[in-house]
Amino acid sequence: MTDKAKTILSGIQPSGKLHIGNYFGAIRQHIAMQEQQGDSFYFIANYHSLTSLNDGKTLEEYTLDVALDYLALGLDPEKATFFAQSDVPQVTELAWILGTLCPVSLMEKGVSYKDKVAAGLNPNIGLFTYPILQAADILIYHSDIVPVGEDQKQNIEITRDLAGKFNHTYGDEYLKLPEEHIVKSVAIVPGTDGRKMSKSYNNTIEIFAEGKALKKKVMSIQTDSTPLEDPKDPDTDNVFALIKLFADKSKQDEIAGKYRAGGYGYGHAKKELLELITEYFGDAREKRRELEKNLDYVRDVLKTGGEKARSRAEEVMQPVREVTGIVRNFRYP
Ligand code: ADP
Ligand code: TRP
Repeated sequence: MTDKAKTILSGIQPSGKLHIGNYFGAIRQHIAMQEQQGDSFYFIANYHSLTSLNDGKTLEEYTLDVALDYLALGLDPEKATFFAQSDVPQVTELAWILGTLCPVSLMEKGVSYKDKVAAGLNPNIGLFTYPILQAADILIYHSDIVPVGEDQKQNIEITRDLAGKFNHTYGDEYLKLPEEHIVKSVAIVPGTDGRKMSKSYNNTIEIFAEGKALKKKVMSIQTDSTPLEDPKDPDTDNVFALIKLFADKSKQDEIAGKYRAGGYGYGHAKKELLELITEYFGDAREKRRELEKNLDYVRDVLKTGGEKARSRAEEVMQPVREVTGIVRNFRYP
């Protein structure tokens, strides 16, 4: 393979409604990267979601929701290959093979796994081997660049490790070691309680929330108890941290000035934030409503993306089967 067309790949789990932490931490960069030279592949990691979600109807619904969200937010299926992980069976096939080369101790060091155990969760094997499936996701397309948040760094290192082990064991460069591309443009987006915004903390503001539901979320953002008339420090406030994501520099400066001057309460800041969010996602909201009326189109995008991804995956998988001695008596179409 030449270096000319780099393959960019990333995935997102459909394990709940996407929130503004996901947007600024991941989705926005995915969409921006589709403009770069090279092939971009973005997928909905539904097999990964099974490690925490065991309700078929809900998983199906969330998968379609993520597809709608990405398309509404600007993912262009002409520029990026967009598909569901489950449309590429070679991924689970490769994951099994990688698992046979993966020391148990490597998984035991998984930060995400350890965190869940520490939090008292009784982890399933899927959660334990989650990074192996993620490695297969990446390696099956010979991905060069994997744009992910800081929290995914270890999984990319594990991917490189497993690719190296495979190549060493079977004696050639069958799998390509990816580079990670840590997305640094945004700090951790705080949730309504000031902790990292996350589905698991129940502190999210959904990208496509609107009306009363959005207002309720924004109004519930925790602030300190400085009285309305006193000056306030914008740099220690959760509302301002969110305002910074949505407002341009001059608007940020204007609002920061009001904080420092006093006579401006957190209630006022929340109203400004509400307006900013509504405006920022206005076009995407409109587009999503249109797409909702045309779900056949959305399914078609995933189908076409899946076909393309599957044929790329097969190119990588075939030599892997051969060298590992896995004989099969049929071929994927
Ligand atoms: P959650 O914590 O809600 O379950 P995920 O772990 O599924 O979110 O994250 C999906 C992507 O969104 C990852 O790339 C992650 O880095 C990014 N992300 C999630 N929450 C935040 C946040 N609060 N700030 C910045 N990025 C985030
Ligand atoms: N683990 C990633 C997350 O939670 C999602 C994911 C699955 C992924 N497979 C991937 C990201 C492959 C990048 C590449 O955000």
